[in-house]
Amino acid sequence: MKRVCISGSGLFTPAESISNDELVAAFNAYVENHNAENATAIAAGAVEPLQPSSSEFIVKASGIKARYTVNKAGVLDPKVMRPLIRNRGDDEPSLLAEMAVAAAQQALQNAGREAKDVDMVLVACSNLQRPYPAIAVEVQHYLGIQGYGYDMNVACASAAFGVQAAVDAVAGGSARAVLVISPEICTGHLNFRNRDCHFIFGDAATALLVEPLDTAVSKDRFEVLGTRLQTQFSNNIRNNFGFLNASEQPPRPWNDVLFHQEGRKVFKEVVPMVAELLNSHLGDLGIVPSTVRRFWLHQANLGMNQLIAKRVLGHEPGTDDAPVILDEYANTSSAGSVIAFHKYHQDLKAGDVGVLCAFGAGYSAGSVVLRRL
Ligand SMILES: CC(C)(COP(=O)(O)OP(=O)(O)OC[C@H]1O[C@@H](n2cnc3c(N)ncnc32)[C@H](O)[C@@H]1OP(=O)(O)O)[C@@H](O)C(=O)NCCC(=O)NCCS
Repeated sequence: MKRVCISGSGLFTPAESISNDELVAAFNAYVENHNAENATAIAAGAVEPLQPSSSEFIVKASGIKARYTVNKAGVLDPKVMRPLIRNRGDDEPSLLAEMAVAAAQQALQNAGREAKDVDMVLVACSNLQRPYPAIAVEVQHYLGIQGYGYDMNVACASAAFGVQAAVDAVAGGSARAVLVISPEICTGHLNFRNRDCHFIFGDAATALLVEPLDTAVSKDRFEVLGTRLQTQFSNNIRNNFGFLNASEQPPRPWNDVLFHQEGRKVFKEVVPMVAELLNSHLGDLGIVPSTVRRFWLHQANLGMNQLIAKRVLGHEPGTDDAPVILDEYANTSSAGSVIAFHKYHQDLKAGDVGVLCAFGAGYSAGSVVLRRL
């Protein structure tokens, strides 16, 4: 089996950002309108009044301060509260593919590679714009890559699952190089009318190039020492959107086909699952967890990441141990841990070990242990 590395990463960030204050102002305008329109029913006790949101709560509960989005105006319009995107023709690149291509081009450039060097394209993400043709095949087309591509969805853990598939393909010789791309338009599946979660998600796309270590030309390489994946069924993060929605009788309520979660339960159940995964994976690779130089963790909740890192490192983590990008990006699902890697890997020295770790709905979790060359 060949030794394998990640030889380049790429990031696409949408141009528009929404601060907590802007988001809360839009949400609270919606709440005021709703409560005014239903004043009589509320006074009669027939309808519960909606409660306002607050920026203080959002920062305290999650660490999120802002999020990027593909469309700010739609999200902030209290009568719309979703991103509005142009309906493109079949002969134009889909928005998701366009974001993926931008991130992939940067990853190729950083790896010193071109389209002709790549055999396989994985689009690994939570929110695919359509069932088929696969977004990965469209991305492959626009990048000019021969070979093949396919989509995979393992929710927020998708990038780690994609990396394992890529590593296996490269190590086994079925692909010379693989692009693992995680484009996410999470604002499209977010219920901006739900106070419990309206602040959670943002949009971005990431890409990683995976290829044999010995022939990589990049000076910025990380050997993949090992990957480990785990899933365990849970309904605590769920989205019932699907192709049978129009057939289901009675029809589902509109908010059932958007993201919803039991955030507190997720926090409590996923922290030990991920800490155990990381400790056992590192232990089996003969690496003392406290010696890990950096954790590039999934970016859903700051407190969650601090607890996970503490359980692995054995001390309170600083941002140097586990960098934070969710303050600026919010939760970008599968892209989050890769954004952290992309922005915060340059300072590692040869021999330093880092762990990219993604987790989310399913539950699903993945650990990718890397060593700087
Ligand atoms: C979602 C999350 C930030 C919520 O934080 P939390 O501390 O659990 O907050 P809760 O939902 O328990 O709400 C606490 C209180 O704040 C209130 N509240 C909820 N949203 C609010 C908002 N936007 N503004 C003000 N108050 C709010 C709640 O109604 C509740 O009030 P109560 O105590 O009077 O009942 C947190 O649970 C989380 O991030 N969990 C992990 C989720 C995760 O990783 N998911 C993966 C997604 S891919």
